[in-house]
Amino acid sequence: MCGIVGYIGARQAQPILYNCLAKLEYRGYDSCGIAISNENLSIYKDTLNINELAKIVPILQGTTGIGHSRWATCGEPSICNAHPHYDCTGKFAVVHNGIIHNYEILKKQLIAEGHHFISSVDTEVIPHLIEKYYKGNLEEALEEALHNIVGSYAIATITSGENKLVAARKDSPLIIGVGESERFVASDVMAMLDYTNRIVHLEENEIGIITDSNVKIKHKGSYIQRKEHKIEWNSNATGKMGFEHYMLKEIYEQPRIIGDTLKTDYRNIKQIVSSQVVKDKEIAPLLILACGSSYHAGLVGKYIFEMTLGISVRVEFASEFNYYGHIPTKTRAIVITQSGETADTLKAVRKLRQAGCYVLAITNVIGSSVTHIASETIYTHAGCEISVAATKSFIAELAVLYRIAMLCADKRLEIADILAGAKQIADKGRGILDETDGIKELGEYLAGYNTVFYIGRGINYPIALEGALKLKEISYIHAEGYAAGEMKHGPFALLSPVTPVVAIVARDNTYEAMINNIREVKTRKVPVIALMEEDDDVVRGIADFVINIPCVNPIFSPMVNVVALQLLAYYAARKRGCAIDFPRNLAKSVTVE
Ligand code: AGP
Repeated sequence: MCGIVGYIGARQAQPILYNCLAKLEYRGYDSCGIAISNENLSIYKDTLNINELAKIVPILQGTTGIGHSRWATCGEPSICNAHPHYDCTGKFAVVHNGIIHNYEILKKQLIAEGHHFISSVDTEVIPHLIEKYYKGNLEEALEEALHNIVGSYAIATITSGENKLVAARKDSPLIIGVGESERFVASDVMAMLDYTNRIVHLEENEIGIITDSNVKIKHKGSYIQRKEHKIEWNSNATGKMGFEHYMLKEIYEQPRIIGDTLKTDYRNIKQIVSSQVVKDKEIAPLLILACGSSYHAGLVGKYIFEMTLGISVRVEFASEFNYYGHIPTKTRAIVITQSGETADTLKAVRKLRQAGCYVLAITNVIGSSVTHIASETIYTHAGCEISVAATKSFIAELAVLYRIAMLCADKRLEIADILAGAKQIADKGRGILDETDGIKELGEYLAGYNTVFYIGRGINYPIALEGALKLKEISYIHAEGYAAGEMKHGPFALLSPVTPVVAIVARDNTYEAMINNIREVKTRKVPVIALMEEDDDVVRGIADFVINIPCVNPIFSPMVNVVALQLLAYYAARKRGCAIDFPRNLAKSVTVE
């Protein structure tokens, strides 16, 4: 999940590279570096963050350069292993995101041919291969080099001998930005939003030859010009707008996003509905694949579709699906991925498409890799989500799933009217955000513990999983989400007065069972925080603490319960002084398996 940037244009490259890299820090990093080409290549890199690097590097003249923030996947974090990497002559500099599976063999061959390596990183074979094949044309040398490579890559490279930037991609995102007499490359469009929102997509296995005024793309051996397009986001989408953290800002954006998404007249949802993709009961269960929070959204989708459409739904981790077999004939699938770049999810899409399956992608990033390989795409329009913890993108995914169900539901069923009530959900979610003091106190209370359980049933079981994920990923408190009915089959052994339980109580067919679960937990003197609908005296009488949740139709309760759990995790992490937006070891876009 490294961040790559490149610049070529009329301005000095160095400050622009720093600014672009800073926008990618949310992706996670342990080192960073830049290379600027003038008469020679100037390369500086260190195990520092971008601001610290900028303080120690002298001012470098040059209007062409590349930069990299590294999240180590091969070779420990060190100055040697940081990017850019370069060849023996120091003529070629390369930054790379991805994994080269055959780098040991290549390295051995290159060393035998006299090349000298200084790092333990797979990337370092690239500049040496370029040096080996270079005959005066950088893109031709890179093309030759890539013929030797097995793996995934987003690459940007420069040489002191030519005033151009050359980029290439395979299974790893790379975008080209178009400015006035300047061009950019980046692994994520957010890096360049301060300068342009005009982009050209580099597709799989293509090479981009970029000058300050032109982008030429080598596609299957011939050169093409690809039209640019504009993206909706602008640079103030990446500001905190007065909030202490991006995560809190993005939590507060949710009511608007729910409303927008439920009102959006998604053209292609109607096609999907009419093409029986979702509601055909006669063929294999609808398959939903995703990772992390998006997987939890898919689990909620299962309950929504099975409750409203009477179909069978199978939800799998994309990472697991990739390694076991059977795809029933006529399988149709929905994949959910905020970034549209998650390697596990992309691999699953390719597997399904190769088996001839229809795949609908739900994603938040326009033009992301998944949109190029899925059969159709629905965008969530949550806007740019900076915080590594998914919040508004998660609720936007839920809103799209409700929207699909709304459009598929048989109009004779009263459920269609209930789903139509979804539009009031935005206001109910806003209600929680107006009462955060109680949640803040409980979050700070949880900060004192090292183990927390989240329990739920039915459509709120996935929300228990999501609440636990939020807590563990930003506060580093060990948290487990569990189907409430499963606690007595083992986890009860772990319960004690120092393992609080967060219980989600919804006024649906699981209500009585949840009341019993809370009573059972209380027999072990376990502190219980219960999410309950306003003024439920029964729950208030048995739980130690309660969080009031606005009364909504139970089918929509995930949309409001999750907001409370996001805030609970946020305040616990804030109390612990954690790096809430950029948690340790995590990255926003997991572009490696
Ligand atoms: C959620 O808070 C995490 N950031 C992570 O689990 C994330 O949901 C997962 O990596 C999937 O990302 P995607 O939706 O971009 O595919």
